[in-house]
Amino acid sequence: MKMNSLKRTLLLSVFVISSLSLAQNKSEREQILLDKDWRFSFGHIYDTQKDFGHAEGYFSYLTKTGFGDGPAAKDFDDRAWRKLDLPHDWAVEQDFSEKGSFSHGFKTAGKGFPEKSIGWYRKKINIPETDNGKIISLKFDGVFRNSKVFFNGYYLGTEQSGYNGFEYDVTAYVNYGGENTIVVRADASMEEGWFYEGAGIYRHVYLQKTNPIHVVANGTYVTSELKNNGADVIADVTIENKGNYKGSIEIIQTVFDKANKRAANFSENVLAPEFYQTITHSSKLYVENPLLWSIESPNLYRLVTQIKQDGKIIDSYETPFGIRTIKFDPENGFFLNGKSLKLKGTNNHQDHAGIGTALPDEIQYYRIKKLKEMGSNAYRCSHHPPTPELLKACDELGMLVIDETRLMGINDYHLNDLKRMMERDRNHPSIFCWSVGNEEWNIEGNIVGERITNVMQNYAKSIDPTRPVTVGISSGFRSGISSVVEIMGYNYLGNGDIDAHRSQFKNQPGMGTEEGSTFATRGIYFTDDAKHYQSAYDKKPRPSFYSIEEGWKFYAERKYLAGMFIWTGFDYRGEPTPYGWPSVTSYFGMMDVCGFPKDNVFYLKSWWGNKPVLHIMPHWNWNGMEGKEIDVWVHSNCDEVELFLNKKSLGKKKMQQNSHLEWKVKYTPGTLEAIGYKNGKKVLTVIQKTTEKAENIKLSADKENIPNSKTTVVTVEVTDKNGLHVPTSNNEITFSIKGGKILGVGNGDPTSLEKDQFHDVLSLVQITNFQEQKSSEANLPQELPNYPENDWKTAFKDRDYKNQAPSYIYKGEFDLKNNAVSNIVSFFYKKIGVETVVFVNGNKVNPSADDSQKYILDSAILKEGKNTIHIAAKPLQKIKDWDVMNTDPGIIQVVTPAEPYKRKLFNGYAQIIIQKEDNTKEVILSASAKGLRTGNLSLK
Ligand code: GAL
Repeated sequence: MKMNSLKRTLLLSVFVISSLSLAQNKSEREQILLDKDWRFSFGHIYDTQKDFGHAEGYFSYLTKTGFGDGPAAKDFDDRAWRKLDLPHDWAVEQDFSEKGSFSHGFKTAGKGFPEKSIGWYRKKINIPETDNGKIISLKFDGVFRNSKVFFNGYYLGTEQSGYNGFEYDVTAYVNYGGENTIVVRADASMEEGWFYEGAGIYRHVYLQKTNPIHVVANGTYVTSELKNNGADVIADVTIENKGNYKGSIEIIQTVFDKANKRAANFSENVLAPEFYQTITHSSKLYVENPLLWSIESPNLYRLVTQIKQDGKIIDSYETPFGIRTIKFDPENGFFLNGKSLKLKGTNNHQDHAGIGTALPDEIQYYRIKKLKEMGSNAYRCSHHPPTPELLKACDELGMLVIDETRLMGINDYHLNDLKRMMERDRNHPSIFCWSVGNEEWNIEGNIVGERITNVMQNYAKSIDPTRPVTVGISSGFRSGISSVVEIMGYNYLGNGDIDAHRSQFKNQPGMGTEEGSTFATRGIYFTDDAKHYQSAYDKKPRPSFYSIEEGWKFYAERKYLAGMFIWTGFDYRGEPTPYGWPSVTSYFGMMDVCGFPKDNVFYLKSWWGNKPVLHIMPHWNWNGMEGKEIDVWVHSNCDEVELFLNKKSLGKKKMQQNSHLEWKVKYTPGTLEAIGYKNGKKVLTVIQKTTEKAENIKLSADKENIPNSKTTVVTVEVTDKNGLHVPTSNNEITFSIKGGKILGVGNGDPTSLEKDQFHDVLSLVQITNFQEQKSSEANLPQELPNYPENDWKTAFKDRDYKNQAPSYIYKGEFDLKNNAVSNIVSFFYKKIGVETVVFVNGNKVNPSADDSQKYILDSAILKEGKNTIHIAAKPLQKIKDWDVMNTDPGIIQVVTPAEPYKRKLFNGYAQIIIQKEDNTKEVILSASAKGLRTGNLSLK
């Protein structure tokens, strides 16, 4: 007996150790990032010729399995296409035009631009023979939008949403031990939002390999309940069997704390699901003395789910989660872990300066840190599901989140989107509320809205009963949606009587899902409608909207309101209200599109944050305004502030709670100084000083960057001879980089029509009027003879493949818009014969060394306008009657090299986002401008 129990203990500890080590070993489930090395080209929304002949075939991919044609075909020749890495947003790469969409920031892509609304992406991957037997799938985090995906020519499906993630099982189509082709056709011709949405594969793509028995996509659901000194963790896991195994499997659930120590575990044997069926298994684990997730201490745990079959671990799946409690109380607002917490939130879209919607993961952290620094503790994903990395950043940094689905409705389109968002996101401790809609003007106040909300809300509860549901409502308070929604989402105090609504619905908690919508341009202190400038003093923007201060006072004074979400944290592309073209970004942000603060940030820091704040606005460079009165505002949370101009006191003022201070000051150059007092003691001093002229360019890696990360946000500014930042400088700066690449540039100017990115321009020129003549010669000409003009006939027309001539000469034309010496022009030949000689404008050209079917064409033999190409070749012979022979000679590629990156400073600042190359030790960024000392930044 003794021996036996000892043996059991030993076995048990062996099991624990091995399962622990396997928990860190991903070999049972592989997820390979597929961001690198895609080929890209524009197609066309309705001209199939310009869409590379896609769907022109006699049988389409919907007619016969595997009949993906044009670029969807496995062997389509994409050598002439552009090479790029994901994430990618083709809209941000385009120029601006008045013809563009107001909502999408006037970029010349998507809606209304048929030539820039279809993007084709192709990528080749090798899948080894040893993967045969595994389930292979493709995982997309989000493609804008309406994407069709093909794998080796097989159509996998269409995903309409530009925001939800999706997966396709490709197991049956894989070429094991060889090359496989992934093709995505994204169609951005329709808009889902009234804000900038980007275009293309703007989130990550993965290749996933699992055992036939595996945890399904987003297949875990972890909830917790605090009990005495511990927490019950309920871990549900959904397992699928895509194989033929019948019998028992073991499910092992282990919770690890943030120090990677095992906090709880559980295991049970169950019957494997039937073929292509799933089972959901629930286990209860007990974590003692859990470290709760909170804004200040975002403690995370990790659930490792393992499946064991015949004693071997066959799947291992990780779920980060947090233990915390949330509660909305209709009288007392919101509670996190039992403590009252006023929600100090912002609404945000997902784009950033220079890079559009294609954000490297680090930029999510950068943005969330900026918001936290402002004192914000909550983020509303307006008005669509975010990228998974945004939620990861919120979990890790401590930021509460309202996760929002795109469109209200009760059909599959709406409910399935909601379900997928919730199943993907419900383990994130940061999410405290689901939003099932926003400002649905057609239904807000009526019975249809009420019915839809009832369905969506109950449906949401069936997927996650632990969080409440809200809708952002802008009209018809007290009826329709607002009469049934669980948490009333007030969009703007000007839109109705909030107190009256609350008196009628005493049991319904509420929060301000949108407030503000104020207009401000960073660094601008006088509104100038001709220039589309909105001064940065906090002000009531429109008759029925309120300033940030008015809005916050309203919410701060009412205990029953859980808090408010400012419209918006950051400026975003599109919606340049109150202006239109040539303004291309919004004016609503507390920060500009780069994350440079407007002055309201200091108001919020004062009353949202917990550190002493003292800030003077405006700057003190007002050349030409001498003697004129200027409004000086101070944002602070000190009790009293005294202001001095050139050492002369302008008076001490008492600060009211949630307020600011104002002085009228006659401008004289020099130093404006504020001294802040708390309990009668000096605690802070700040100055605004008139600067000298700009002399130096200063580059600094922003402090919100993640240490050692590949992506770095760099602030560009100019300083005077004393090193003081010059707030009025608008110099154009040119950049160069070594050891890395520039992803984009921005400056926060809503009216800037400068390029966000500088790429080589690649155009593909078709060979047209392709004709042929037979030749009785078996030898191909090395010099171009004169061919009788009358003998040309359409190439390959009625070709009798059984009686082909010994050789053929083909003639075609291609048009060049210009013949700049700096262009690189290549002919990508597609085999139409066994031996080939190519002549361009009568000159024989030679294949390039790296690719025998590529010809680089020197500008000396090319001309602007019409060029002629001759191809002499011996014909290809059909082996079988039904062989389809290539009749396409290939394509001409014209590459116009990019200009160097440049950007104007806007009121003293610009931003450049750079990325380190793999395997480089140092990145050096240089910035130069006429009349200024060059700035350099080295990042190791
Ligand atoms: C709201 C809307 C937001 C944004 C904002 C601009 O009505 O929900 O998405 O458009 O107005 O003021």
